[in-house]
Amino acid sequence: MGGSGNLKRITVDTTFGRRASCARVRRSNFSEKQFMAIDWSRLGFQYVNTRCHIRYTWRDGEWGDEVMEESPYLPMHIAATSLHYGQAAFEGLKAFACEDGAVRLFRAEDHGRRFATTARRVLMPEVPTELFVDAIRKVVKANEDYVPPYGTNGALYIRPLLIGSGPRIGVQPAEEFTFLVYVTPVGDYYPSGLSPVSALVVDGHDRAAPQGVGNVKVAGNYAAGMMASRIAAAQGYPINLFLDPREHRYVEEFGTSNFIAITGDGRYVTPAAESILRSVTNDTLMTLAEEDDMPVERRQVAWEELPGFSEIGACGTAVIITPVNRIVRGDEVVEAGPREGVGPVLQRLYDRVRGIQKGEIEDRWGWLTAV
Ligand SMILES: Cc1ncc(COP(=O)(O)O)c(C=O)c1O
Repeated sequence: MGGSGNLKRITVDTTFGRRASCARVRRSNFSEKQFMAIDWSRLGFQYVNTRCHIRYTWRDGEWGDEVMEESPYLPMHIAATSLHYGQAAFEGLKAFACEDGAVRLFRAEDHGRRFATTARRVLMPEVPTELFVDAIRKVVKANEDYVPPYGTNGALYIRPLLIGSGPRIGVQPAEEFTFLVYVTPVGDYYPSGLSPVSALVVDGHDRAAPQGVGNVKVAGNYAAGMMASRIAAAQGYPINLFLDPREHRYVEEFGTSNFIAITGDGRYVTPAAESILRSVTNDTLMTLAEEDDMPVERRQVAWEELPGFSEIGACGTAVIITPVNRIVRGDEVVEAGPREGVGPVLQRLYDRVRGIQKGEIEDRWGWLTAV
Protein backbone atom coordinates (compact mmCIF):
# COMPACT_ATOMS: atom_id res chain seq x y z
CA MET A 1 0.00 0.00 0.00
CA GLY A 2 1.47 3.34 -0.95
CA GLY A 3 1.76 5.97 1.77
CA SER A 4 0.27 8.90 -0.13
CA GLY A 5 -2.76 6.83 -1.17
CA ASN A 6 -3.55 6.13 2.50
CA LEU A 7 -3.31 9.75 3.50
CA LYS A 8 -5.68 10.76 0.76
CA ARG A 9 -8.21 8.20 1.93
CA ILE A 10 -8.14 9.53 5.48
CA THR A 11 -8.95 13.03 4.31
CA VAL A 12 -11.99 11.75 2.48
CA ASP A 13 -13.18 9.37 5.21
CA THR A 14 -13.04 11.72 8.13
CA THR A 15 -15.00 14.70 6.90
CA PHE A 16 -18.25 12.70 6.58
CA GLY A 17 -20.05 15.43 4.81
CA ARG A 18 -19.09 18.14 7.28
CA ARG A 19 -17.31 21.33 6.36
CA ALA A 20 -13.78 20.42 5.38
CA SER A 21 -12.44 22.91 7.95
CA CYS A 22 -14.06 20.87 10.75
CA ALA A 23 -12.04 17.79 10.05
CA ARG A 24 -8.45 18.73 9.70
CA VAL A 25 -6.23 15.73 9.22
CA ARG A 26 -2.80 15.96 10.72
CA ARG A 27 -0.31 13.85 8.92
CA SER A 28 2.59 11.99 10.35
CA ASN A 29 4.96 9.41 9.04
CA PHE A 30 3.06 6.54 10.71
CA SER A 31 2.35 4.17 7.89
CA GLU A 32 -0.04 1.27 7.57
CA LYS A 33 2.72 -1.31 7.57
CA GLN A 34 1.46 -2.54 10.92
CA PHE A 35 -2.05 -2.99 9.56
CA MET A 36 -0.70 -5.13 6.78
CA ALA A 37 0.75 -7.45 9.40
CA ILE A 38 -2.38 -8.01 11.50
CA ASP A 39 -3.24 -11.65 11.95
CA TRP A 40 -6.75 -11.54 13.46
CA SER A 41 -6.40 -14.96 15.05
CA ARG A 42 -3.34 -13.89 17.03
CA LEU A 43 -4.57 -10.58 18.38
CA GLY A 44 -4.44 -10.27 22.14
CA PHE A 45 -5.23 -7.27 24.30
CA GLN A 46 -2.27 -5.03 23.52
CA TYR A 47 -2.07 -1.68 21.78
CA VAL A 48 -1.89 -1.98 18.01
CA ASN A 49 -1.43 1.28 16.15
CA THR A 50 -4.27 2.26 13.85
CA ARG A 51 -4.70 4.89 11.18
CA CYS A 52 -5.75 7.82 13.35
CA HIS A 53 -7.47 9.07 16.48
CA ILE A 54 -9.93 11.93 16.92
CA ARG A 55 -9.27 14.88 19.17
CA TYR A 56 -11.09 17.95 20.50
CA THR A 57 -9.93 20.83 22.68
CA TRP A 58 -12.04 22.66 25.23
CA ARG A 59 -11.15 26.33 25.60
CA ASP A 60 -13.05 29.40 26.73
CA GLY A 61 -16.00 27.34 27.82
CA GLU A 62 -16.63 25.26 24.71
CA TRP A 63 -15.52 22.27 22.69
CA GLY A 64 -13.72 23.13 19.48
CA ASP A 65 -13.81 21.34 16.14
CA GLU A 66 -12.57 17.83 15.68
CA VAL A 67 -9.13 16.96 14.41
CA MET A 68 -8.25 13.57 13.00
CA GLU A 69 -4.69 12.95 13.98
CA GLU A 70 -2.44 10.26 12.55
CA SER A 71 0.32 10.48 15.10
CA PRO A 72 -0.35 8.58 18.34
CA TYR A 73 1.61 11.20 20.27
CA LEU A 74 0.06 14.12 22.13
CA PRO A 75 2.08 17.30 22.58
CA MET A 76 1.11 18.76 25.93
CA HIS A 77 2.07 21.50 28.36
CA ILE A 78 4.49 20.19 30.97
CA ALA A 79 2.32 21.71 33.73
CA ALA A 80 -0.90 20.05 32.52
CA THR A 81 -3.20 19.12 35.43
CA SER A 82 -3.62 15.55 34.16
CA LEU A 83 0.11 14.93 34.46
CA HIS A 84 0.53 16.34 37.97
CA TYR A 85 -2.82 16.07 39.67
CA GLY A 86 -4.45 13.18 37.86
CA GLN A 87 -7.25 15.22 36.34
CA ALA A 88 -8.06 12.51 33.81
CA ALA A 89 -10.99 10.25 32.94
CA PHE A 90 -11.33 7.41 30.49
CA GLU A 91 -13.76 4.85 29.14
CA GLY A 92 -13.48 1.50 27.42
CA LEU A 93 -16.03 0.09 24.99
CA LYS A 94 -16.11 -1.95 21.81
CA ALA A 95 -17.25 -1.99 18.20
CA PHE A 96 -18.10 -5.30 16.56
CA ALA A 97 -18.36 -6.53 13.02
CA CYS A 98 -21.83 -8.07 12.94
CA GLU A 99 -23.20 -11.01 11.01
CA ASP A 100 -24.86 -8.71 8.44
CA GLY A 101 -21.54 -7.00 7.68
CA ALA A 102 -22.30 -3.77 9.59
CA VAL A 103 -20.02 -2.44 12.33
CA ARG A 104 -21.83 -1.52 15.53
CA LEU A 105 -20.94 0.02 18.89
CA PHE A 106 -22.11 -1.68 22.07
CA ARG A 107 -23.82 0.56 24.65
CA ALA A 108 -21.98 3.70 23.56
CA GLU A 109 -24.46 6.10 25.15
CA ASP A 110 -24.20 4.36 28.51
CA HIS A 111 -20.42 4.68 28.43
CA GLY A 112 -20.92 8.34 27.45
CA ARG A 113 -23.09 8.96 30.49
CA ARG A 114 -20.53 7.37 32.79
CA PHE A 115 -17.79 9.44 31.15
CA ALA A 116 -19.78 12.60 31.92
CA THR A 117 -20.28 11.51 35.53
CA THR A 118 -16.54 10.96 35.89
CA ALA A 119 -15.80 14.36 34.33
CA ARG A 120 -18.11 16.16 36.76
CA ARG A 121 -16.56 14.42 39.75
CA VAL A 122 -13.08 15.76 38.98
CA LEU A 123 -14.21 19.18 37.74
CA MET A 124 -13.74 18.65 34.03
CA PRO A 125 -16.20 19.83 31.38
CA GLU A 126 -18.62 17.10 30.37
CA VAL A 127 -18.43 15.75 26.87
CA PRO A 128 -22.11 15.79 25.80
CA THR A 129 -23.30 12.25 25.03
CA GLU A 130 -24.07 13.20 21.41
CA LEU A 131 -20.53 14.48 20.91
CA PHE A 132 -19.12 11.39 22.64
CA VAL A 133 -21.02 9.01 20.33
CA ASP A 134 -20.38 11.13 17.24
CA ALA A 135 -16.63 11.18 17.93
CA ILE A 136 -16.59 7.42 18.37
CA ARG A 137 -18.56 6.79 15.20
CA LYS A 138 -16.20 8.98 13.21
CA VAL A 139 -13.01 7.43 14.50
CA VAL A 140 -14.34 3.89 14.11
CA LYS A 141 -15.45 4.70 10.58
CA ALA A 142 -12.02 6.10 9.77
CA ASN A 143 -10.46 2.87 11.07
CA GLU A 144 -13.11 0.47 9.85
CA ASP A 145 -10.60 -1.86 8.23
CA TYR A 146 -9.03 -2.42 11.64
CA VAL A 147 -12.27 -3.93 12.99
CA PRO A 148 -11.65 -7.68 13.34
CA PRO A 149 -13.96 -9.40 10.85
CA TYR A 150 -17.10 -11.26 11.87
CA GLY A 151 -16.15 -14.81 12.71
CA THR A 152 -12.82 -13.97 14.34
CA ASN A 153 -14.57 -13.04 17.61
CA GLY A 154 -12.32 -10.03 17.97
CA ALA A 155 -13.45 -6.42 18.37
CA LEU A 156 -12.27 -2.88 17.92
CA TYR A 157 -11.54 -1.62 21.42
CA ILE A 158 -12.42 2.06 21.84
CA ARG A 159 -10.68 4.24 24.39
CA PRO A 160 -12.15 7.71 25.02
CA LEU A 161 -9.91 9.89 27.19
CA LEU A 162 -10.52 13.30 28.77
CA ILE A 163 -7.64 15.15 30.40
CA GLY A 164 -6.76 18.49 31.86
CA SER A 165 -4.22 19.66 29.28
CA GLY A 166 -3.82 23.26 30.37
CA PRO A 167 -1.16 24.37 32.86
CA ARG A 168 -1.64 24.93 36.59
CA ILE A 169 0.85 25.11 39.39
CA GLY A 170 -1.70 25.24 42.20
CA VAL A 171 -4.07 22.32 42.68
CA GLN A 172 -7.03 23.57 40.67
CA PRO A 173 -8.83 22.44 37.54
CA ALA A 174 -7.21 23.28 34.22
CA GLU A 175 -8.61 25.90 31.89
CA GLU A 176 -7.97 23.76 28.82
CA PHE A 177 -9.03 20.14 28.32
CA THR A 178 -8.42 17.55 25.64
CA PHE A 179 -10.93 14.88 24.68
CA LEU A 180 -9.66 12.17 22.38
CA VAL A 181 -10.75 8.74 21.23
CA TYR A 182 -8.37 6.12 19.95
CA VAL A 183 -9.14 2.61 18.80
CA THR A 184 -7.15 -0.60 18.67
CA PRO A 185 -8.13 -4.08 17.49
CA VAL A 186 -8.32 -6.80 20.14
CA GLY A 187 -8.67 -10.54 19.82
CA ASP A 188 -10.97 -13.19 21.21
CA TYR A 189 -10.00 -13.62 24.84
CA TYR A 190 -11.37 -17.16 24.94
CA PRO A 191 -10.58 -18.82 21.61
CA SER A 192 -11.15 -22.25 23.15
CA GLY A 193 -13.96 -21.43 25.57
CA LEU A 194 -14.27 -19.64 28.90
CA SER A 195 -11.63 -20.78 31.34
CA PRO A 196 -11.64 -20.05 35.05
CA VAL A 197 -9.04 -18.17 37.08
CA SER A 198 -8.10 -17.92 40.75
CA ALA A 199 -8.28 -14.54 42.51
CA LEU A 200 -6.37 -13.22 45.51
CA VAL A 201 -7.48 -10.74 48.17
CA VAL A 202 -4.36 -8.67 48.83
CA ASP A 203 -4.85 -7.56 52.42
CA GLY A 204 -3.45 -4.12 53.17
CA HIS A 205 -4.44 -2.65 49.79
CA ASP A 206 -7.66 -0.80 48.96
CA ARG A 207 -8.66 0.27 45.47
CA ALA A 208 -10.67 3.28 46.57
CA ALA A 209 -11.63 5.30 49.63
CA PRO A 210 -15.19 5.01 51.01
CA GLN A 211 -16.17 8.47 49.81
CA GLY A 212 -13.47 8.81 47.17
CA VAL A 213 -13.59 8.32 43.42
CA GLY A 214 -13.91 4.53 43.14
CA ASN A 215 -17.38 4.88 41.60
CA VAL A 216 -16.05 6.81 38.60
CA LYS A 217 -13.43 6.02 35.97
CA VAL A 218 -10.70 8.39 37.06
CA ALA A 219 -7.26 7.41 35.76
CA GLY A 220 -5.58 7.49 39.18
CA ASN A 221 -7.78 4.65 40.45
CA TYR A 222 -5.82 2.34 38.22
CA ALA A 223 -2.43 3.52 39.44
CA ALA A 224 -3.72 2.93 42.98
CA GLY A 225 -4.61 -0.67 42.09
CA MET A 226 -1.44 -1.63 40.25
CA MET A 227 0.52 -2.70 43.32
CA ALA A 228 -2.19 -5.13 44.52
CA SER A 229 -2.48 -6.56 41.06
CA ARG A 230 1.32 -6.96 40.84
CA ILE A 231 1.38 -8.75 44.22
CA ALA A 232 -1.42 -11.08 43.12
CA ALA A 233 0.27 -11.80 39.77
CA ALA A 234 3.58 -12.56 41.49
CA GLN A 235 1.79 -15.26 43.49
CA GLY A 236 0.18 -16.72 40.37
CA TYR A 237 -3.25 -15.04 40.59
CA PRO A 238 -4.33 -13.33 37.36
CA ILE A 239 -6.82 -11.11 39.18
CA ASN A 240 -7.28 -9.63 42.64
CA LEU A 241 -10.42 -8.97 44.62
CA PHE A 242 -10.88 -5.83 46.72
CA LEU A 243 -12.96 -5.80 49.89
CA ASP A 244 -14.72 -2.71 51.19
CA PRO A 245 -12.21 -0.08 52.32
CA ARG A 246 -14.05 0.76 55.56
CA GLU A 247 -14.28 -2.61 57.31
CA HIS A 248 -12.82 -5.17 54.89
CA ARG A 249 -15.84 -7.37 55.54
CA TYR A 250 -17.73 -7.00 52.29
CA VAL A 251 -16.81 -7.90 48.75
CA GLU A 252 -16.44 -4.91 46.39
CA GLU A 253 -14.94 -5.69 43.01
CA PHE A 254 -11.96 -7.09 41.14
CA GLY A 255 -9.19 -4.76 39.95
CA THR A 256 -10.81 -3.98 36.61
CA SER A 257 -14.12 -5.82 36.72
CA ASN A 258 -17.25 -6.18 38.84
CA PHE A 259 -17.98 -9.19 41.05
CA ILE A 260 -20.99 -11.30 40.12
CA ALA A 261 -22.24 -14.55 41.63
CA ILE A 262 -25.02 -17.07 41.14
CA THR A 263 -26.63 -18.78 44.10
CA GLY A 264 -27.59 -22.46 44.22
CA ASP A 265 -31.25 -21.47 43.81
CA GLY A 266 -30.53 -19.35 40.72
CA ARG A 267 -30.29 -15.77 42.00
CA TYR A 268 -27.90 -13.26 40.44
CA VAL A 269 -25.99 -11.39 43.17
CA THR A 270 -23.66 -8.41 42.78
CA PRO A 271 -22.31 -6.07 45.47
CA ALA A 272 -23.67 -2.57 45.96
CA ALA A 273 -21.31 -0.04 47.53
CA GLU A 274 -20.42 3.62 47.17
CA SER A 275 -16.90 2.92 45.88
CA ILE A 276 -17.69 0.35 43.17
CA LEU A 277 -17.60 1.35 39.50
CA ARG A 278 -21.02 0.71 37.93
CA SER A 279 -20.07 -1.70 35.16
CA VAL A 280 -22.00 -1.44 31.91
CA THR A 281 -21.42 -5.17 31.37
CA ASN A 282 -22.89 -5.96 34.78
CA ASP A 283 -25.93 -3.87 33.88
CA THR A 284 -26.27 -5.84 30.63
CA LEU A 285 -26.01 -9.15 32.48
CA MET A 286 -28.53 -8.07 35.13
CA THR A 287 -30.99 -7.08 32.42
CA LEU A 288 -30.59 -10.43 30.67
CA ALA A 289 -30.78 -12.36 33.95
CA GLU A 290 -34.04 -10.63 34.84
CA GLU A 291 -35.40 -11.53 31.43
CA ASP A 292 -34.63 -15.15 32.27
CA ASP A 293 -36.73 -14.70 35.43
CA MET A 294 -33.68 -14.80 37.66
CA PRO A 295 -34.02 -12.63 40.76
CA VAL A 296 -31.27 -9.98 40.70
CA GLU A 297 -29.85 -8.71 43.99
CA ARG A 298 -27.57 -5.64 44.20
CA ARG A 299 -26.67 -5.54 47.86
CA GLN A 300 -23.88 -5.92 50.38
CA VAL A 301 -22.10 -9.25 49.98
CA ALA A 302 -20.21 -10.35 53.08
CA TRP A 303 -16.95 -12.27 52.63
CA GLU A 304 -18.45 -15.14 54.68
CA GLU A 305 -21.19 -15.53 52.07
CA LEU A 306 -18.83 -16.56 49.27
CA PRO A 307 -18.73 -20.34 49.97
CA GLY A 308 -22.51 -20.39 49.40
CA PHE A 309 -22.30 -19.33 45.74
CA SER A 310 -22.43 -21.93 43.02
CA GLU A 311 -20.81 -19.72 40.34
CA ILE A 312 -18.63 -16.62 40.64
CA GLY A 313 -17.40 -14.37 37.85
CA ALA A 314 -15.62 -11.13 37.06
CA CYS A 315 -17.42 -9.02 34.45
CA GLY A 316 -16.32 -6.13 32.25
CA THR A 317 -16.08 -4.91 28.68
CA ALA A 318 -12.72 -6.54 27.98
CA VAL A 319 -13.87 -10.17 28.35
CA ILE A 320 -17.58 -9.96 29.37
CA ILE A 321 -17.23 -12.74 31.99
CA THR A 322 -14.20 -14.43 33.51
CA PRO A 323 -15.24 -17.40 35.65
CA VAL A 324 -13.55 -17.29 39.08
CA ASN A 325 -13.50 -20.73 40.64
CA ARG A 326 -11.16 -20.02 43.56
CA ILE A 327 -10.64 -16.99 45.80
CA VAL A 328 -7.85 -16.94 48.34
CA ARG A 329 -7.46 -14.62 51.34
CA GLY A 330 -4.61 -15.49 53.68
CA ASP A 331 -5.20 -19.12 54.59
CA GLU A 332 -8.88 -19.08 53.59
CA VAL A 333 -9.79 -20.61 50.24
CA VAL A 334 -13.25 -20.29 48.68
CA GLU A 335 -14.17 -22.52 45.76
CA ALA A 336 -17.11 -22.05 43.39
CA GLY A 337 -18.24 -23.54 40.12
CA PRO A 338 -16.56 -26.24 38.07
CA ARG A 339 -12.80 -26.79 38.21
CA GLU A 340 -12.58 -26.57 34.43
CA GLY A 341 -14.68 -24.31 32.22
CA VAL A 342 -17.61 -22.26 33.40
CA GLY A 343 -20.89 -22.91 35.21
CA PRO A 344 -24.10 -23.16 33.16
CA VAL A 345 -25.67 -19.85 34.20
CA LEU A 346 -22.63 -17.70 33.47
CA GLN A 347 -22.09 -19.57 30.19
CA ARG A 348 -25.65 -18.85 29.11
CA LEU A 349 -25.39 -15.16 30.00
CA TYR A 350 -22.03 -14.88 28.24
CA ASP A 351 -23.42 -16.48 25.07
CA ARG A 352 -26.39 -14.09 25.06
CA VAL A 353 -24.16 -11.01 25.30
CA ARG A 354 -21.81 -12.26 22.57
CA GLY A 355 -24.80 -13.10 20.37
CA ILE A 356 -26.23 -9.59 20.74
CA GLN A 357 -22.86 -7.94 20.13
CA LYS A 358 -22.34 -9.92 16.92
CA GLY A 359 -25.86 -9.24 15.68
CA GLU A 360 -26.86 -12.92 15.93
CA ILE A 361 -29.47 -12.25 18.62
CA GLU A 362 -31.99 -9.46 18.15
CA ASP A 363 -31.07 -6.28 20.01
CA ARG A 364 -34.37 -5.53 21.74
CA TRP A 365 -32.81 -3.04 24.13
CA GLY A 366 -31.31 -0.56 21.66
CA TRP A 367 -27.80 -1.36 22.87
CA LEU A 368 -26.18 -1.32 19.44
CA THR A 369 -25.38 1.82 17.45
CA ALA A 370 -24.55 1.58 13.76
CA VAL A 371 -21.32 3.29 12.79
C1 LIG B 1 -12.78 -0.94 38.30
C2 LIG B 1 -13.62 -1.49 37.21
N1 LIG B 1 -14.73 -2.15 37.54
C3 LIG B 1 -15.55 -2.66 36.59
C4 LIG B 1 -15.26 -2.52 35.25
C5 LIG B 1 -16.17 -3.08 34.21
O1 LIG B 1 -16.92 -2.04 33.65
P1 LIG B 1 -17.52 -2.17 32.20
O2 LIG B 1 -18.41 -3.36 32.21
O3 LIG B 1 -18.32 -0.91 32.03
O4 LIG B 1 -16.40 -2.31 31.27
C6 LIG B 1 -14.11 -1.84 34.87
C7 LIG B 1 -13.79 -1.63 33.45
O5 LIG B 1 -14.15 -0.61 32.93
C8 LIG B 1 -13.26 -1.31 35.86
O6 LIG B 1 -12.17 -0.65 35.53
